[in-house]
Amino acid sequence: MKSTPGLDCSIVIFVEEDSGDWHARRLREAIEDCGGRVVTTALKRCAFDTSFPHGIDIPGLDGKLPDGVFVRAISKGSLEEITLRLGILHALDSCGVRVWNDARVIERCVDKSTATFLFQKAGLPVPPTRIAEGRERALGYAEARYPLVLKPLFGSQGNGVRRLDEPSDMPTEDEVRGVYYLQRYLRAPDASEFSDWRVFVSANRMVGAMVRQGPNWVTNIHQGGQPQAVELDTEGRQLALAAAAAVGADYAGIDLIRDGQGRLMVLEINSNPAWKGLQSICERDIAATLAEDFLSAVRAEIPAQGA
Ligand SMILES: Nc1ncnc2c1ncn2[C@@H]1O[C@H](COP(=O)(O)OP(=O)(O)OP(=O)(O)O)[C@@H](O)[C@H]1O
Ligand SMILES: [Mg+2]
Repeated sequence: MKSTPGLDCSIVIFVEEDSGDWHARRLREAIEDCGGRVVTTALKRCAFDTSFPHGIDIPGLDGKLPDGVFVRAISKGSLEEITLRLGILHALDSCGVRVWNDARVIERCVDKSTATFLFQKAGLPVPPTRIAEGRERALGYAEARYPLVLKPLFGSQGNGVRRLDEPSDMPTEDEVRGVYYLQRYLRAPDASEFSDWRVFVSANRMVGAMVRQGPNWVTNIHQGGQPQAVELDTEGRQLALAAAAAVGADYAGIDLIRDGQGRLMVLEINSNPAWKGLQSICERDIAATLAEDFLSAVRAEIPAQGA
């Protein structure tokens, strides 16, 4: 059964492993400070089970459903494992549980091609990009366009992002699992310092932003980029908010970049963004902000459930 509105509200945080990481611990404390009862577990420990009243088994809930679920991580897995985990998130949503971000949003963001399509559809500036199958066709597209950036369809933290300068750089189909995400390389040829912006959005407002700077054109913190505080201008803020809205995200990390002509573009969106780097240069308590926004959304839906 679901809990009644007010302070007593049952929350699950889905994390990488049962213990959770720094983010999950901070989030748990912040949600508890706001009056939520929290169970932290991994999606891979959940099950569909017809012997449970709702057909879903979440460890630690004795067959009950929570009021809200915060998805910190889906975790790596086989196609079957990821399908099962997303299926559980879809099922929770269909049972009236508020899922932050829900499975549809995660699917749209994890698949970089769908995210790029949705940004374009919403009228947002995106780098010229083509995502398609087949090495020969990829070579044909690349012919007059080098240098290009190639990205894994499901990549994150800058892993697997590489520059293609000539046809021999084009990886085999096995290396890219059949899909070539090709994008114009936006840096100046003689650049020696690289930067882009990471904007953190929650509940349709900006929580914080940073410039990531480094000697490497892949500026992810994970790749050695250094976070620096920045006052984002209105254009950047509006772009980030519009990108989150384009995929329907409750919270998200949006990457913005300037092309050679200085135009600001939406590069990527992450539906399960880390915020440790941003927190190190941001005064606002990000976990507390997320907890407040998330619990407001959860509590706003509880009365409707009882009706
Ligand atoms: N088209 C491009 N031109 C120049 N630099 C790029 C381009 N695309 C990506 N980069 C650099 O590589 C970094 C990683 O790229 P991107 O953000 O697309 O992938 P990711 O960080 O692995 O995925 P996600 O942001 O979804 O977690 C960017 O932050 C930027 O520094
Ligand atoms: Mg990125």
